[in-house]
Amino acid sequence: MVALRRHLQSRQRAGIRLVPVGEAPAGKSSVGNDGEHALTRPSGDLVAEKALAINAQTLDELLAAIGDCRLCKLCSGRTHLVFGVGDPNARLMFVGEGPGRDEDLQGEPFVGRAGQLLTDIITKGIGLRREDVYIANVVKCRPPENRNPEADEVAACEPFLKKQIDLVRPEIIVALGKFAVQTLLQSKAPISKLRGSWHRYHGIKLMPTFHPAYLLRNPADKKLVWQDIKKVISELRGENP
Ligand code: URA
Repeated sequence: MVALRRHLQSRQRAGIRLVPVGEAPAGKSSVGNDGEHALTRPSGDLVAEKALAINAQTLDELLAAIGDCRLCKLCSGRTHLVFGVGDPNARLMFVGEGPGRDEDLQGEPFVGRAGQLLTDIITKGIGLRREDVYIANVVKCRPPENRNPEADEVAACEPFLKKQIDLVRPEIIVALGKFAVQTLLQSKAPISKLRGSWHRYHGIKLMPTFHPAYLLRNPADKKLVWQDIKKVISELRGENP
């Protein structure tokens, strides 16, 4: 780990940049570039950067190691990399798909309309504050026009989500929507089949449910999410020994 950090520092001192293309202008930490991205970079640096992130001992270290990430093409369109927010020791963690426009602008997950619905689920439904839980996404940068994240983008970012889960070590994960559920459970089954029953992610109880953005389009299914959330509440209260 130390050797790796020294190696990277010495490369930087030697003028070999970890981020050779599309660097953000001064004062803007993570603004887009001219269309080039990490795939143009020597693969040794990609591996080294990922290894640094995976060796992080805290969320802050992980965030620092992710830095001005250029591992996939989403970096070119982002305003902010949206890492995650909340209690680093939370018992309950929510995982969404990826930042939308509001999240990209503010650098915080779930702050737009879907985010307001998630906040209502947390505060009015579960009776916790947003800052009592931890919230993250599968991909950390906004897909253009809010399209679905592509397989290579999920693959590039997934190790960071897994490391976040590893560091927070929640008792329960609520996976919101297809991408979170399929990524964490490595399943191709539809969310409609998976939701509502308990699954396990590395020993952590995982409840799949519909994404809040889906609920905005299909409000009739809010009752199904409420059924799922009631199971989460019972579990948090230790009512299911
Ligand atoms: N949708 C998501 O999946 N994540 C966000 O942060 C916002 C909307």
